[in-house]
Amino acid sequence: MTFIIAIDGPAAAGKGTLARRIAETYGFHHLDTGLTYRATARALLEAGLPLDDEAVAERVARAVDLAGLDRSVLEQHHIGEAASKIAVMPAVRRALVEAQRSFSARAPGTVLDGRDIGTVVCPDAPVKLYVTASPQVRARRRHDEVLAGGGNADYETILADVKKRDERDMGRADSPLKPAADAHLLDTSEMSIEAAFQAAKTIIDAALNRN
Ligand code: C5P
Repeated sequence: MTFIIAIDGPAAAGKGTLARRIAETYGFHHLDTGLTYRATARALLEAGLPLDDEAVAERVARAVDLAGLDRSVLEQHHIGEAASKIAVMPAVRRALVEAQRSFSARAPGTVLDGRDIGTVVCPDAPVKLYVTASPQVRARRRHDEVLAGGGNADYETILADVKKRDERDMGRADSPLKPAADAHLLDTSEMSIEAAFQAAKTIIDAALNRN
């Protein structure tokens, strides 16, 4: 049986880094489900199609190829914004969740990270992690990243942005971001990525021993 690790949390909490490291450590397949929403949004933008037509967005979502997802072309800010707008549409979510579920069944195991993995996509996953951090810490990390990359950014603008994205993701009617009842909470506000990884590893090893 495939072993599934579900990782959820808000933007910039460190879940992507954690998910990649876990997948590498256990030899599992990894899917960053945010990229499926981003790829749909990018395809709509590139084709000059509207972001508020559910039937059109669903058709584009059904054509997304999971094998072709590449964060480097999808990470731009305006694509993330557009992704969180189309992510409120139930038909778009149904289409992408179907693809994500079939990915989750790959042997020997999978790591999926996103907003609704433990609650909707893989509610039976034996390991669920909810990775979070305060909006200030997440904005600070994002700000540092931009500066380290030679870019220019204003901390207050980033903080306002992080809060707006949280509101949209936590406030939507379909599959809002929230921890599953049986998720392990990892607050990385005052924890290094190494410490978060070690905490996750302890949880995963215990679950693997039970399986
Ligand atoms: O994680 P990332 O910033 O790439 O996600 C972009 C947007 O896609 C999120 O703000 C969220 O609205 C949406 N998303 C979602 N469900 C997921 C993953 C991402 O609604 N499982």
